[in-house]
Amino acid sequence: MAEITTNIKPKLRIIDMTKRYKNGDGVEHINLDVYPGELVTMLGPSGCGKTTILRTIGGFLDIDDGDITIDGQSIALLSPEKRPTAMVFQSYNLWPHMSIYENLAFGMKLRKVPKEQMNQQILEMLKMVGMIGSEKKFPSQLSGGQQQRIAIARSLLLKPEVLLLDEPFSALDAKIRVQMREELIRIQQELGITVVFVTHDQEEAMAISHRIVVMNKGVFEQVGTPIEIYDHPVTRFVADFIGEMNFMETPDGIRAVRPESLSLSRGSQGDLHGHIRTIMVLGHYAEVNVQCGDAVIKCNVQRDQMAGWAVGDEVSLSYTKEQFFATETVE
Ligand SMILES: Nc1ncnc2c1ncn2[C@@H]1O[C@H](COP(=O)(O)OP(=O)(O)OP(=O)(O)O)[C@@H](O)[C@H]1O
Ligand SMILES: [Mg+2]
Repeated sequence: MAEITTNIKPKLRIIDMTKRYKNGDGVEHINLDVYPGELVTMLGPSGCGKTTILRTIGGFLDIDDGDITIDGQSIALLSPEKRPTAMVFQSYNLWPHMSIYENLAFGMKLRKVPKEQMNQQILEMLKMVGMIGSEKKFPSQLSGGQQQRIAIARSLLLKPEVLLLDEPFSALDAKIRVQMREELIRIQQELGITVVFVTHDQEEAMAISHRIVVMNKGVFEQVGTPIEIYDHPVTRFVADFIGEMNFMETPDGIRAVRPESLSLSRGSQGDLHGHIRTIMVLGHYAEVNVQCGDAVIKCNVQRDQMAGWAVGDEVSLSYTKEQFFATETVE
C-alpha cells in the first residue's frame, strides 16, 4: 500500500497514555500518532493490550494518565457517544431483536438525522458494503461475514473521524476474511477515513495497513510500514512474530534469516552446509528443511529449482539478507 508521507497534523494522538486495571495489567506510556486517511494496525499476541488501547480511544475505558486527542482536541473526558469515533467489536455487534434497517437507523435516530436523509444514507451504505436488500432481515438470518459488514456499515453511518475495528473478521473463515479485508481497503480508500485496526493475524496486518504497531506485553516493540517491519525487525520478538524466520545462534548473538532469503546449491561454497531432511511442495514453491549440525534450517525455493534434489542430498546454503541481534539485545 502507498505510504502516507505528509507533514499534515495527526488526526489521532495518543500521548503518554497509561491505563492500568486494578490487578496491575494494562498498558503504560503509550505514544502514537495516526494521520488523516491512514490505516494503522495494532498487532500482537493475545493479552498484549490491543483491545485496552482501542477501548481507551473509543471511550469505553477511562485512562489513568496522559491524553488522547482528535484534531488537536482532547477527547479523554468525553463519553463514547460524544467522541468522534465509532467502534466495531469482534462479535455480538448487532442487536438481535432489531431488523437490519433498525440496526442501521438506531444511532442516526439518536442524532436526529431527518428521515429522508437517513433512508438515503442507509441505502448508500448498504450498497457500499454489498448488502442491498437485507433491510428487513434480522441479524440471525445473516452469515457472520454479512453481519460484520452491517456492523461496519452502521459505524460508518455515524460518520466518525476515526473508525476503531477490534478483530472484526476473526470469527470468519479464511476465505471470507480475505474477501472482507479487500472490501475494507476499498471502503477505507473510497471514504479516506482514518482507521485503527486490531488483529493478532500478522498476514492480515501486512495486507491492509499503512503502518503496523507490533505490541508485546503492553509495550510497542516496533512501529513501521509492513515492509520496514518485515525487512528490518528491530527486536527478536518482531522478527519471530512477523513471517517465518530461522534463528541461528552464534557466539556474539543471533542471526535471523527468512526462508525465502536462502538458496540451495551443491558443493561447499555456501554459508551453511547440511543435508536435506524433507522436501514439501506447497504450490508454486517448496519448503525444504535442511539439517545443519544441530539446527534445522527452513528454506523456501521455487518448485522448479527442486528438480534433481532428493532427501538426504548434501547441500550448501547461501543467503543474501540477514538480521543480527547482538547478545545484549536478546531477550
Ligand atoms: N477488565 C479487565 N480487568 C482486568 N484485567 C483485564 C481486563 N481486561 C483485560 N485485562 C488484562 O489486560 C491485558 C490486556 O488485555 P487486552 O484485552 O487489551 O488484550 P488483547 O491484546 O486485546 O488480547 P486478545 O488478542 O486476546 O483480544 C491482559 O493481560 C488482560 O488479562
Ligand atoms: Mg482483544
